[in-house]
Amino acid sequence: MKQNAIVEMKDLSFKYEKEWVVKDVNLSIYEGQFLGLVGPNGSGKSTLIKLMLGLSKPDVGSVQLYGESIKKFDKWEEIGFVSQKANSFNSGFPATVIEVVKSGLVSRMGTFSFFNRKHKERAMEALRTVEMEEYADTNIGELSGGQQQRVFIARALVSDPSLVILDEPTVGVDAKHVTDFYNLLGKLNKEKGITLLMVTHDIGTITDHATHVVCMNKTIHFHGHSDDYKEFSEEDLNQLYGHAVQQLSHNHDHSGVSHS
Ligand SMILES: Nc1ncnc2c1ncn2[C@@H]1O[C@H](COP(=O)(O)OP(=O)(O)OP(=O)(O)O)[C@@H](O)[C@H]1O
Ligand SMILES: [Mg+2]
Repeated sequence: MKQNAIVEMKDLSFKYEKEWVVKDVNLSIYEGQFLGLVGPNGSGKSTLIKLMLGLSKPDVGSVQLYGESIKKFDKWEEIGFVSQKANSFNSGFPATVIEVVKSGLVSRMGTFSFFNRKHKERAMEALRTVEMEEYADTNIGELSGGQQQRVFIARALVSDPSLVILDEPTVGVDAKHVTDFYNLLGKLNKEKGITLLMVTHDIGTITDHATHVVCMNKTIHFHGHSDDYKEFSEEDLNQLYGHAVQQLSHNHDHSGVSHS
């Protein structure tokens, strides 16, 4: 099967100030892949995504999207994005679920030019995909974290994208909803053929769902099939993270109580 590179990053380096945050990254994402992106805090994962989406410009190297230089690329509706900390609405936020999802139809290049009724139909369809249609008129802030996260997936899906990028979408989401969420992602990937890139710290779980894993800390330390990542030794991981990481797997304690 011939595979098309949807994202192609070549020799990418980037710094905010003096220090390189992303260094010499070569990474391609192919149609149909479900890629897990892992690495310690501050290792450049969110920055790499910003470079991939043209939200930051690389100091060195190039990004191609769908075979075209990012400088010329204009089919932003092909790409859905759920940013880190997307679900930080409090209960007073004045928007309903359907309004949040519809806002995904306003691309960075301007509003799509069809009627409001059509907008609503597409938003409802996206909500059905994540099984949240019954909450359409509920205030977004009144939903639980897992429910809000589903709404943000719907928002990312509303323009019918072929690539969806998720930056730590399961933070603060309980174990049951995380499982539901992974099942949903699996369905989108296998049934709808949507290519997925997901940043996560859940290295114990991601390999069960993603087809491929990328492990980075400024540079890429591992890129390959999930099965091969499972073979990546504890020692390799500890070296990469600079501390023991094995016990962090399956740590779903989000009680908010900090132990020092
Ligand atoms: N806007 C910014 N200005 C200056 N430095 C920044 C900015 N955003 C991030 N950084 C720095 O760049 C480095 C990489 O940050 P980035 O957010 O890409 O890490 P990350 O891998 O996504 O981390 P996390 O797992 O905590 O989300 C960090 O050292 C961070 O302090
Ligand atoms: Mg990040």
